[in-house]
Amino acid sequence: MNVTAAIPAYSIVLDAPEHSAAVEALYDDVFGPGRFAKTAERLREGNTAIADASLVAIDSEGVTGVVRVWPVTVGEKGRAAFLGPIAVAERRRGNGVAFKLMERAIGVCREQGYAAVILVGDFEYYERFGFKPSGDRFQLPGPVDQKRVLIRDLSDRAATLKGALAVPR
Ligand SMILES: CC(C)(COP(=O)(O)OP(=O)(O)OC[C@H]1O[C@@H](n2cnc3c(N)ncnc32)[C@H](O)[C@@H]1OP(=O)(O)O)[C@@H](O)C(=O)NCCC(=O)NCCS
Repeated sequence: MNVTAAIPAYSIVLDAPEHSAAVEALYDDVFGPGRFAKTAERLREGNTAIADASLVAIDSEGVTGVVRVWPVTVGEKGRAAFLGPIAVAERRRGNGVAFKLMERAIGVCREQGYAAVILVGDFEYYERFGFKPSGDRFQLPGPVDQKRVLIRDLSDRAATLKGALAVPR
């Protein structure tokens, strides 16, 4: 059996204004209206996504997956990439779409010189991409379950990152 042919084709392209409406609809479907109340959202509002690391997956039905990545400051002098949200439409889950989006987004962050990628999520899922719990190294601008604050080191400089995460000014 040709397994590749059993999975409908999709492509991964850079996020762009033309995808905005479809991306918002996908986020609404996946996370519901409560998504704007999340603490992580405080690091996105007033911020500008890292263009090359923010990606959408498109198939014949349109936008089927999205990941966005944001620059943040860490403490006084640090910088890192803050990833999320990532979402894949239910109809495409389990096809590795999120895996491809994650791998590419992390690769771009490394190429752009970010010391680390930080996110809030389930360790059980993100472990496969090299994320590990960050302990109490980082403070987010609101309540968060610290066990879910994860970091993926991209360089030796990641070890020096510590402090409050904030939107760059
Ligand atoms: C998480 C999500 C992006 C994964 O998308 P996907 O394209 O199906 O992911 P992949 O195909 O690369 O991987 C699927 C695997 O991840 C596992 N997985 C998905 N969510 C998981 C979680 N929260 N914890 C542990 N494993 C998880 C699936 O069970 C599946 O396992 P398998 O490979 O053993 O079958 C998608 O399920 C989704 O949009 N979920 C709702 C939104 C969400 O939780 N986003 C992440 C928080 S910001």
